[in-house]
Amino acid sequence: MSDVVLGVETSCDETSAALVADGRDVRSNVVSSQIDLHAKYGGVVPEIASRAHLERIRPVIAEALEQAGATAAELSAVAVTIGPGLVGSLMVGVTAAKVLAAVWGKPLLTVDHIHAHATSAAIEADAAPWPAVALVVSGGHTSLYLVRDFLRVELLGQTRDDAAGEAFDKVAAILDLGFPGGPAIERAARSGDPRALNFPRTWIDDERLDFSFSGVKTAVLYHVYGTGRKYGSAAHLSRQQLADVAASFQAAVVDVLVSKTVLAARRVGVTTIVVGGGVAANAALRAGLARACETAGFRLVLTPMRYCTDNAAMIAAQGFHQLRAGCVAALDAEPRSGLVRAGR
Ligand code: KG4
Ligand code: ZN
Repeated sequence: MSDVVLGVETSCDETSAALVADGRDVRSNVVSSQIDLHAKYGGVVPEIASRAHLERIRPVIAEALEQAGATAAELSAVAVTIGPGLVGSLMVGVTAAKVLAAVWGKPLLTVDHIHAHATSAAIEADAAPWPAVALVVSGGHTSLYLVRDFLRVELLGQTRDDAAGEAFDKVAAILDLGFPGGPAIERAARSGDPRALNFPRTWIDDERLDFSFSGVKTAVLYHVYGTGRKYGSAAHLSRQQLADVAASFQAAVVDVLVSKTVLAARRVGVTTIVVGGGVAANAALRAGLARACETAGFRLVLTPMRYCTDNAAMIAAQGFHQLRAGCVAALDAEPRSGLVRAGR
């Protein structure tokens, strides 16, 4: 018999619930995005996010059960994102999951959001791709992991300043392209020349496995606003110039992400690369990794697009493996804004 886990995700600005069987068969994955609520502020406003989670959590969970045609009695466990994320937002999902686990008499599983991104390539895959180097590129994190299996995820390197997604969001703001920036930059870049401008690729020829994206962001800022802030906005750029900035910025970020990921795989001696997190939805990154893996003779397992940005399917899937390993959480588990270990 299969184990169906209810996953709940509320770490940032997506309220999501999903039912996943045996860690890979997604029965439902309901994602209620708050993008419309935060767009006018140019970023996620924590108070607005927690309130929206509170309003949406019940209908979103009900919808996930209904779409899967399942009842609470058929569930094996309730998995929830315990961190990292916005504490007020996490609190809503964690409280809901605790209450449901207690009322339904099911085990509670607390899942690390970044670990879930790191293992999300296994959702709907025929076989688990481990061992692999996982590139996690989101709005809050840019990290490389050695994933030995679902429960053994070791950090190899991470950003020292901005996350890649954060750089996309900030550059989109500089270019007046709106929020969230990643998809907007990707759209604008389609008609641009990625070689038009040579933005910095920090540490690309360096042996370290860490990242830094504040330099490229600042270079775009100076390029757009001019020295001494000659311009107050990006309005002086032609459509083509703007597209060229977007494409050249995207190329600089992709170059660094791809070369560090390949370097990490060589360093730890694995030949499989997986990618997850919101920025993993970026077509230029997916294509760049595919090319590099082909050259290096590596296998690339891309997370399906719908499981790149925040979703509860990845939480339910990772939760299933913690359940199998007996890593069940206590009902007094508290949300944590920092990184946590699987199952603790
Ligand atoms: O994983 P995610 O949904 O939330 C976090 O855990 O942070 O990632 C959101 C980030 C945002 O910074 C967004 O701009 C970026 O992912 N993003 C993209 C694309 N889609 C989302 N960045 C580049 N290209 C995209 N297509
Ligand atoms: Zn995320």
